[in-house]
Amino acid sequence: MKVLIIGSGGNIGTPLVQALVDRSLVPTLAVRNTQKAEDKWGNKVTTTQFDFEDPTTFTSALEGQEAVFFIAGHSNPVPSVQQFLTVAKEAGVKRIVFSSGRTTGDVPGKPLNDVEKLVRTWDRQWTILRPGWFMQNFVNWLGGTIRAENKLFLPAGNAKTAFIDVRDIADVAATCLLEEGHHGQLYNLTSDEALSHTEVCALISQASGKLVTYVPQERASFISTMLEKGWTEAAANYTADLYKYVISGKEEEISDDVAKVLGKTPRRFQAFAQEHADRF
Ligand SMILES: NC(=O)c1ccc[n+]([C@@H]2O[C@H](COP(=O)([O-])OP(=O)(O)OC[C@H]3O[C@@H](n4cnc5c(N)ncnc54)[C@H](OP(=O)(O)O)[C@@H]3O)[C@@H](O)[C@H]2O)c1
Repeated sequence: MKVLIIGSGGNIGTPLVQALVDRSLVPTLAVRNTQKAEDKWGNKVTTTQFDFEDPTTFTSALEGQEAVFFIAGHSNPVPSVQQFLTVAKEAGVKRIVFSSGRTTGDVPGKPLNDVEKLVRTWDRQWTILRPGWFMQNFVNWLGGTIRAENKLFLPAGNAKTAFIDVRDIADVAATCLLEEGHHGQLYNLTSDEALSHTEVCALISQASGKLVTYVPQERASFISTMLEKGWTEAAANYTADLYKYVISGKEEEISDDVAKVLGKTPRRFQAFAQEHADRF
């Protein structure tokens, strides 16, 4: 199977490439910087120049590919994904897997929802993944204040979140890319438990041996806290906007779709925290 991965340098893409390599495939990575991808993966992959913001890169990247994984984290994704899906069909791609997001994938007017609509009208095989919040956020995106001052600032109140380990998203994506039976499916991807951020910090503390505290904040104080810590205004506002959905309780619901697709229990936060103890 010839598989093309878009977003291969990211949270989901990195373990997805690994999952495909582990299955003895040589995926093609569609990237803006081919040298960077080659330095990272060597001859385990092939690379092709690709930029969602530059449609002239679409045809050569998609030529000869059978299955394509993509995310839509770039700015203004709808027109570029529309064009991309047209070129994918012309190039003979048989199957696409789009990783959306649980928070806004079902919210009309949000880019991920608009892209999901485009994917649903693609007339070859498609699968949509809607992952919950990533466990890896606590070492990447939100990890700075945990490492620097043993504190996690968020406007999340006491709401619970059913997190997901990106390695489980990657395993589900690999299965949907390579196996039959997933056409027309939308999978909600979560672990089998929902945790408050107080519970998250307790598990991080247990794993790391440091006392990490959750500091719940209102939107305005969260934004000013993060600006003081060097975040941009756009990043602080974007994060605060997303946490409106968390605080509403929307992220609490647990899905058993990971177990349905993979036939095994998803990873839990405690195991994730222990494996990443030296990153906190
Ligand atoms: N964080 C969460 O908790 C969470 C939860 C659910 C859903 N999501 C969704 O997941 C998606 C992000 O996935 P991720 O976290 O795996 O990605 P990520 O870590 O943010 O990385 C983005 C990847 O996309 C590539 N990329 C960016 N702009 C591009 C462009 N114009 N053309 C081609 N490639 C481009 C980047 O390449 P470079 O390496 O060249 O920069 C990078 O590999 C977003 O749609 C987000 O809303 C996130």
